[in-house]
Amino acid sequence: MTGCTLGDFVAELRKIAATTPDPTAVIGRVRPLALRLAREGDWLRPEHYRCDAAQGFGVHLLHEEPDHTLAVFAVAWLPGRGAPPHDHGTWAVVAGVDGPETNVFWERLDDRSRAGYAELRKRGETVFGPGDVVSFLPDAIHSVENRTDRVTVSLHVYGKHLNYTGRSQFDPAARTETPFVVTVA
Ligand SMILES: [Fe+2]
Repeated sequence: MTGCTLGDFVAELRKIAATTPDPTAVIGRVRPLALRLAREGDWLRPEHYRCDAAQGFGVHLLHEEPDHTLAVFAVAWLPGRGAPPHDHGTWAVVAGVDGPETNVFWERLDDRSRAGYAELRKRGETVFGPGDVVSFLPDAIHSVENRTDRVTVSLHVYGKHLNYTGRSQFDPAARTETPFVVTVA
C-alpha cells in the first residue's frame, strides 16, 4: 500500500481477495494494512464517535462493495457498554483507533445439533488499543466491552458486511444462539 487513504486500503483489499479465498491467508495480509490505516489514515471524522444508545455502540460504514463484500466500519463504543458474544460468519480484522477496548474470547462446547442452543465457555480476554490489531476466523466467538469512562473507536474490516453473513449472537447464561443484526448509522 503506497498511500494510506481509505481508497488505497480498499484497493489493496480487492487485490488480496482476488488472490486467495482462504480466510487465514487474507487475515495475515489485511492485519498490517488495517493497523496502518487505523494509525495513519485521514478517514476518522467526529461523527464516527456517535453511538446508538439502544445497542451500546455506533456502527459507521466506511466502505462495502456492491455485493456487500469487503466491508469497512468505524465502530464507537459507549462507556460501560459493549457487544454480546457473537461470531461474524466471515473473516474479521479489528484495529484500535482511540482508547482501549476489551475483547473476551469464547469457546463453543456443544455440537451445534440443536437449533437456537449453544454452550459457551470463556477462554480469555485481551485489552487492545491504538497500535494493536485482533483478527477472527468466521466461526470465532468474541464479545467486546468498553471498560473506560469515555467513548472508544476501532476500525473493523470484514470479508462481508455483517448484516449479510447470517451470523449469530450468544447468551452464555441462557445457552441461546440468535441472529445478530446491528443498526448501522
Ligand atoms: Fe465482533
